[in-house]
Amino acid sequence: MSRRLGVLISGRGSNLQSIIDAIRLGELLASIAVVISNRPEAAGLLRAQEAGLDTLCLRQKDYESRDAYDAALAGALRAKGVDLVCLAGFMRLVGKPLLEAFHNRMLNIHPSLLPAFPGLDAQRQALDHGVKVAGATVHLVSDVLDGGPIVAQAAVPVLVDDTVETLSARILVEEHRLYPRAIATVLDGGWRIEGRRFVLEQASAGAAG
Ligand code: GAR
Repeated sequence: MSRRLGVLISGRGSNLQSIIDAIRLGELLASIAVVISNRPEAAGLLRAQEAGLDTLCLRQKDYESRDAYDAALAGALRAKGVDLVCLAGFMRLVGKPLLEAFHNRMLNIHPSLLPAFPGLDAQRQALDHGVKVAGATVHLVSDVLDGGPIVAQAAVPVLVDDTVETLSARILVEEHRLYPRAIATVLDGGWRIEGRRFVLEQASAGAAG
């Protein structure tokens, strides 16, 4: 896999920013070939433009079907030579044309310790459930909502006086650390999928002889 990323956003873009920053700092050896938003008002588009990145806004309503929209996303990503797609707050279910174009080459970050609390409002779900530990998950995207093989997770405590805002902020700090590292892990290769597990192969150094 070469190291050209396509980042898909819908809003604020703080995870996009963490990827931009990690690349700038040399912590993530990759380049961002394009940032695509499904919402023209996404603040993340401004961040991308300020970083000098190519941006695109593709809106679902300009396409006649979900499949046509997903095919357009796949086409735009391919045209930019993207190898790995990173969903970063892309608040839309990914359909078959895009999944097939980037099979096992699409990552998502989700603000819960999956498989707990998939879908919307994960932090509220965690608070309502009364869990004592919450966190974030980076996973490969499959046709199951927030259900693909897990690449990396980070946990945070849930405090007695937490609100959705305070818990979300604590999780977000971990997201910003986690996502660039998980992207690097996937780009570096040396992994395989077994069943629904993402398995890192042991370093072969020292194994010979
Ligand atoms: C992040 O917390 C991300 O985990 C979440 O949206 C937020 C986007 O923030 N994604 C999901 O809930 C996907 N199911 P950002 O735009 O600042 O990166």
